[in-house]
Parts: sequence; structure tokens; C-alpha cells
Amino acid sequence: MTTEAQTACLTRIVDDLAEQGWSLQPQFLSQSLTTALAHECRKRAAQGALTPAGVGRGNQQQISEGLRGDHIQWLEPGDSSSSDVYLSLLDELRGVINQGLYLGLEDFEGHFALYPPGAFYRKHLDRFRDDDRRTVSAVLYLNEDWQAEQGGALRLYLKDGSQRDVLPEAGTLVIFLSADLPHEVLPASRERLSLTGWLRRRGNEPW
Ligand code: OGA
Ligand code: MN
Repeated sequence: MTTEAQTACLTRIVDDLAEQGWSLQPQFLSQSLTTALAHECRKRAAQGALTPAGVGRGNQQQISEGLRGDHIQWLEPGDSSSSDVYLSLLDELRGVINQGLYLGLEDFEGHFALYPPGAFYRKHLDRFRDDDRRTVSAVLYLNEDWQAEQGGALRLYLKDGSQRDVLPEAGTLVIFLSADLPHEVLPASRERLSLTGWLRRRGNEPW
């Protein structure tokens, strides 16, 4: 169930995507939910469940610390009540985007990501590098009291040629069209946690 405020937020995201190809929602989730998700991400890290992220698709995957230095673990339905709340919100968003923009989004895949201090992710496009079904990227940040001088911004390269830096502050959600916006993660002086995912449309495999 979504509240009226959440529904209004989802509508703003759709309007922003239509107008500018991206949207920033600084308080997408309640503090209690982001705290629970941050706790879960740290617990998984302590258990050794997060593994170095690869670059590329399927069996072309390679670990390349020169391109990205985060450690990830994919989310599965039923992992925890807090991640299930997030998955259901993203499913709601998927429906609202489909109604407004006819993108034919079918599902969501997402992972926890932990960037150790100094780690980064070089400038890239989500669609072409990893998966051509990825249509809308959604990054939720889980870091309390993030300060600009700690680095770690997501730098978006916008269509008008300008850049926009987003700080990974807890509760902030950034959404963008995966094929359109190159972006990078700048190194930070502290650990940086997020829950990153993609709304995907059907692939056009011939089988
Ligand atoms: C990614 C990515 C952005 C971020 O995982 O593809 O670009 O701010 N993440 O964590
Ligand atoms: Mn990306």
C-alpha cells in the first residue's frame, strides 16, 4: 500500500522522466526503512556475502577494479521485510511509468552495493554496457549525514551538456533513463552504501 504522498512522488518521477530524462527524490523512503536497509547491507557485507561487481554481460563478465570498485549482492523477493517493501514500491513505480510513458517495463532487478573508501565507478551507460533490457535506472542511497567534502557523488551527464552531482544521502532516490544518461560514481573518503537497480523491458532475443 502506498500513501498519498508516495503516489504524488511517483507521479513527479514520471513527469520528470518525460521532461528531462531523470528525477531526484531526496526523501523517497522513511528514515526507519533506509536505516533497516543500511543495516541489512552492512550485515551482508560482514557475512562476506557481497562480491566484487563485474562489468559486461553474462559470460562476458569481468572484474575490473579500474572501472568499478563496488561490492554487490543481488536482491531476491523474501530476503527481508524491508527489502520487500522497497521491491513493492518499485513495482508500483513500474506500473505508474508504464501508464504514463508506455515503456512496457516488465520487471525490476536490483542489488545492494558497497563502495569501500576510494572506490569509484567510471563514466558509463547502464543500458549498453550491461543489459539492453535495462530501461530505467533507480539508485537509492543509504548513508546517514553525508557531507559534500566526503566525495562519493553520482555525477550525471545531462542531455543539455551540463553535469549534476547527487550526494548519496540516506533516503535519496535518483532515477534516470538507462540508455540516455552517462554517469559515474566519484571516489569517497568513507564507505558508500546503495541499493541500485533497473526496471527492465522484455528482451528481444529470437528464442
Ligand atoms: C551503477 C551505478 C550509481 C551510484 O551501479 O551502475 O551507476 O550512484 N551506480 O551508485
Ligand atoms: Mn550505472
